[in-house]
Amino acid sequence: MDRIKLRRAVARTPLAPIAAFPKRLRTVARHDAKVLRRSARWLLTSREHHNYTYDLTSLSRNHLAWFVSVVCDIPVKQVRAYLGEIESDDGLRQHLLAAIAASDRRGLADKEIRYARRIGWYAIVRATRPTHVVETGVDKGLGSVVLASALLRNAQEGHPGRVTSLDINPEAGYLARVAPWSEVVDLVIGDSIASIGALDRPVDLFLHDSDHSRAHEKREFDAVEPKLAPGAILLTDNVTSTNVLAEHAERTGRRFLAYRESPANHWYPGDGIGVAW
Ligand SMILES: C[S@@+](CC[C@H](N)C(=O)[O-])C[C@H]1O[C@@H](n2cnc3c(N)ncnc32)[C@H](O)[C@@H]1O
Repeated sequence: MDRIKLRRAVARTPLAPIAAFPKRLRTVARHDAKVLRRSARWLLTSREHHNYTYDLTSLSRNHLAWFVSVVCDIPVKQVRAYLGEIESDDGLRQHLLAAIAASDRRGLADKEIRYARRIGWYAIVRATRPTHVVETGVDKGLGSVVLASALLRNAQEGHPGRVTSLDINPEAGYLARVAPWSEVVDLVIGDSIASIGALDRPVDLFLHDSDHSRAHEKREFDAVEPKLAPGAILLTDNVTSTNVLAEHAERTGRRFLAYRESPANHWYPGDGIGVAW
């Protein structure tokens, strides 16, 4: 019996998993060694302890461009131009580096500026030109300045807008407290549900990125629904963990799509962008 015939004969018997074990072990060990190498490098070189930052792989960046193109119904070439715009914004990069270096939390921040999926938020704001964006969950304010940068560019083109950024932590948002970004950011401190209830202007774009429990995410989408402008877009940063926005979309007659990011050279599996529109 030649080797191929022997393999096929073994594959039909209960011995097959034992025969395949060395190959399976090699495959999974190679994969795990790669993750361990990345994790060890990150432990030694990064200072971040939550809300990790990283770049996207080029494949993931390309998928993000197509995702935004479909959601906003604009050519992918235009989306790529928006992604390039934020990535090459040296003024923003210099501001972030200086603000991080001067902050009380500098010991827990990296010295490289990496936006991950937030470049997708930027492109959506550039494409849809909202008058009022609401972001729940601010942390240092990286998302807020990315959103503010898009709004400032829109204003230069005759489409001004503002972002209301909500966080329960009074120390949140230090990156967004510097001009010109601060000129379009309204930082509101308090529980997001109460702050959403107090909004007094229609919301064109809403982003959930605060308490990522299922119950809180649902409460935010329920609370913001009566505040939305016609045709408003809803985003969630929690799409890889819950189905809350998809269910909300189904209940309210919207379309829904999810994008899952892939971080480059990082152990973290990444988050994503869920959108209902
Ligand atoms: C993942 S971080 C936000 C990240 C930010 N959007 C960014 O782009 O980097 C989550 C933030 O949500 C805030 N948070 C948690 N529970 C909250 C609540 N009930 N209301 C408002 N903010 C809350 C936390 O203080 C934290 O700063």
